[in-house]
Amino acid sequence: MQENYDDIKEQHNKLPLGMFLFFIGMALWGIYYIASYTPAVSGWSQRKVYDEQVAKEKAVAKPVLTENPYEHDPKAIAEGKVLYASNCSACHGEHLKGGVGADLTGHLKYGETDDKKFESIAKGRPNGMPSFEQQLGRDRIWKVLAYVDSVREYGQKP
Ligand code: HEC
Repeated sequence: MQENYDDIKEQHNKLPLGMFLFFIGMALWGIYYIASYTPAVSGWSQRKVYDEQVAKEKAVAKPVLTENPYEHDPKAIAEGKVLYASNCSACHGEHLKGGVGADLTGHLKYGETDDKKFESIAKGRPNGMPSFEQQLGRDRIWKVLAYVDSVREYGQKP
């Protein structure tokens, strides 16, 4: 029976196939979504995600520098020169040619990469090289090293 009120007809059309599939798809996606965020089903946990992110942040936030941030920086080199004169020259000589301490202009037996040189200064070396970690701190060690490296590279400027 078909009713007719003011020309508004109610008809019983079949649901279009596309709409039907979309509906089923949404339902399946919903089940999948709920399951994948249910700890008992998938093992997912808010805590785990949080811990992973914190670990990642920590790894990024505290980089161990392996290269001198002040390399070729004239201001830092000037500061490093002053630091060298008061902390290093007594042993390594005014011209870095050595004395009690090793010659710093030639081959460095403990390594010539930035991180090795930093380590020599920060931690000290067994045959009489003191540790400067406490006294200077990381930043000034890099500066004094920038000076030492500028002399190694270009020779000493007046
Ligand atoms: C008390 C004397 C003394 C002072 C002060 C000193 N050094 Fe040394 N340094 C030495 C001696 C001795 C060695 C050699 C250590 C060894 O052979 O184990 C050395 C080694 C080094 C090395 C490693 C050399 C190599 O062959 O690998 C570097 C780099 C260095 N010193 C830089 C510095 C800097 C920069 C300063 C100033 C912040 C400084 N030193 C202050 C005595 C000193």
